[in-house]
Amino acid sequence: MSKLWGGRFTKDTNKLVEKETASISFDQKLANEDIKGSLAHVNMLATTGTLTKEEAGEISKGLKIVQQKLEEGKLAFSIEHEDIHMNIEKFLIDEIGPLGGKLHTGRSRNDQVATDMHLYLKKHTEDIIELVEATQQAVLNLSSEHVDTILPGYTHLQRAQPISFAHHLLTYFWMLQRDKERLFDSLKRVSGSPLGAGALAGTTFPIDRHQVAKELGFDYVYPNSMDAVSDRDFILEFMSASSIMMMHISRLAEELVIWSSQEFQFIELDDSFCTGSSIMPQKKNPDVPELLRAKTGRVYGNLMGLLTVLKGLPLAYNKDMQEDKEGMFDTVETLEASLMMLAPMIETMTVKKDNMKKAVSEDYSNATDIADYLVTKGVPFRQSHEIIGKIVLYGIDNGKFLLDLTMEEYKKFSDHFEEDIYSVLAPEQVVANRHSYGGTSQQQVREQLKLAEKML
Ligand code: ARG
Repeated sequence: MSKLWGGRFTKDTNKLVEKETASISFDQKLANEDIKGSLAHVNMLATTGTLTKEEAGEISKGLKIVQQKLEEGKLAFSIEHEDIHMNIEKFLIDEIGPLGGKLHTGRSRNDQVATDMHLYLKKHTEDIIELVEATQQAVLNLSSEHVDTILPGYTHLQRAQPISFAHHLLTYFWMLQRDKERLFDSLKRVSGSPLGAGALAGTTFPIDRHQVAKELGFDYVYPNSMDAVSDRDFILEFMSASSIMMMHISRLAEELVIWSSQEFQFIELDDSFCTGSSIMPQKKNPDVPELLRAKTGRVYGNLMGLLTVLKGLPLAYNKDMQEDKEGMFDTVETLEASLMMLAPMIETMTVKKDNMKKAVSEDYSNATDIADYLVTKGVPFRQSHEIIGKIVLYGIDNGKFLLDLTMEEYKKFSDHFEEDIYSVLAPEQVVANRHSYGGTSQQQVREQLKLAEKML
């Protein structure tokens, strides 16, 4: 079968080369965008007089039939036609005859593929933004139920200070908020139209790039035709924002794995989000968060892959750029699936408040508060830190927590201790006392919830 570009060739393409240079196996995901771009292009060719209204009408009709067949799964793509652009063009010619060959007037596959990628990523970035919001909502809903749930806060994965569970969860709300802002920002660059840049230098036909851009829902037109066909920053930005988001999702996933372990038992994931073991009957494994944690790797990999493909490419289009697609599709699909699982997993998990409470009452995470207590009695913080360190050591040696020590025992370490020390040490009080702006006190967390709600 002859190639759409076969005129200059005297030999058939080597079969392996044909297979390896073809992108149709993966770029068929751009079929809808490709047809959409072609419809806008053909309309414009008619308004600017390059095609007659009748010709444009016939071509549009043909493209719509191709679209219809695509939806019905009736199109058989072939590697002989290399990529989605030439496959669609071939289908069109099969449908309406040689007139279909006029569609490619005043454009090149180079501006065409860039346009398809912009359209695809614009749509999916918008979808992902919605999924991020749904996840934020899930985090927010759970947080609002747990302002008064207290658990140990950690640094170095060592118990540090008691915190409100809502405060802990809301941290993820803010991470997702920044992720969303990064995606919104990247939309500005995704919303530029490369169509009409031609192969690299523009075209001799009297095209109207602004008309096409408007019809396709783009906000502006790339001002430089070479930049239009050689730019892939918009994909890199999406992949960078996605990498950071997956890192956040992975941190949350890691906490869910830890919290659902026998050692912690702070939460239990719903059965519908876990799987069992083929040999150990007692097991209920947190596969979903484990996979979310692992999927981060491929998202980072896709970013590094494309950065490496692009480095050192001379202007303008190079075949190397065909390698931009699989990583982009994979990042989109990984992110969409991850977010789609994350929100319901959060919504359905059981929070074991009592275990959290028990954990804070069986540790020394209120030590900072006695140090602060002595400071209010006039002891310099450094000295107070030293005294409390000794008290903690005494507690560990004698199997006692800070609330268990008698007044007599306290007095051995400092005369400044009085009965009021016990009220300072209760976990609820320890949390309530951290009322600086953005702190974990119940009252500050309620303020934070209000702010978060407003942002959604
Ligand atoms: N399949 C190609 C790609 O994905 C389309 C552009 C091909 N352009 C060319 N001059 N070979 O990048």
